[in-house]
Amino acid sequence: MWKHHAKLERHSLLLVLGILIVVSIGGLVEITPLFYLESTIEKVDGMRPYTPLELEGRDIYIREGCYLCHSQMIRPLRDEVERYGHYSLAAESMYDHPFQWGSKRTGPDLARVGGKYSDAWHRDHLIDPRSVVPESVMPPYAFLAKKDLDARDIKAKVETMTRLGVPYTQEMIDNAEADLQAQADPFSAGGTALKKRYGDKVQQRDFDGDPDRVTEMDALIAYLQMLGTLVDFKTYQAENPENLR
Ligand code: HEC
Repeated sequence: MWKHHAKLERHSLLLVLGILIVVSIGGLVEITPLFYLESTIEKVDGMRPYTPLELEGRDIYIREGCYLCHSQMIRPLRDEVERYGHYSLAAESMYDHPFQWGSKRTGPDLARVGGKYSDAWHRDHLIDPRSVVPESVMPPYAFLAKKDLDARDIKAKVETMTRLGVPYTQEMIDNAEADLQAQADPFSAGGTALKKRYGDKVQQRDFDGDPDRVTEMDALIAYLQMLGTLVDFKTYQAENPENLR
């Protein structure tokens, strides 16, 4: 055995081949199970595709590069769980294309920021972060409140998501525009249909405090207020074999 090893060590090409074989075994063991996603993503109640308004908000989040300073993945480490809440589940980002885990935290993790602050706080914070957090280094995004949301292609966006495996129904696609308008208006008659399609927990209100129009601020705050609120952790138990399936 050792004699053969000496041969390997003296022959660079053989050594490279040997390394390739060993590394690919390691790679296969790590990567292959991920292709069987049913066993990788736990089954949880409450996950639903994003509403059209949240989807637009997420696109603004990506466009503005919020992910460069904010992660959306709470790791299963004690300090993180105590600061941010339950660690992130794979299921919680299963409808995210692309995922927003991020790789750097200049600001805090946002995976569970939904419900942590009021809409007014988010509005003030996005318009001028230092008005609410004096030591903040976050840039201001005041223009979002002034810009009407351009949602002309929302139907196509929702439809594209279905190609990536997000289970939007034909009804959701056909009503994307109406659902978007309904969510940003607390008095909209379309609210009932919106909740029938996306669930009673959908937050329907005027997010940016400007009832006359739907702005990019509306969409972004709707998205932020939803983050981390879909799975109910009062009822979720990791030990439950149902959830580990
Ligand atoms: C240059 C880095 C940077 C960028 C880009 C950035 N942020 Fe921040 N963000 C921060 C920092 C630092 C904080 C912590 C201080 C504060 O609250 O302002 C923060 C805090 C926050 C908070 C409060 C989180 C909490 O739990 O208290 C929210 C919400 C937020 N950012 C959203 C956004 C959104 C949405 C965008 C994109 C439109 C964005 N941020 C872009 C750096 C950034």
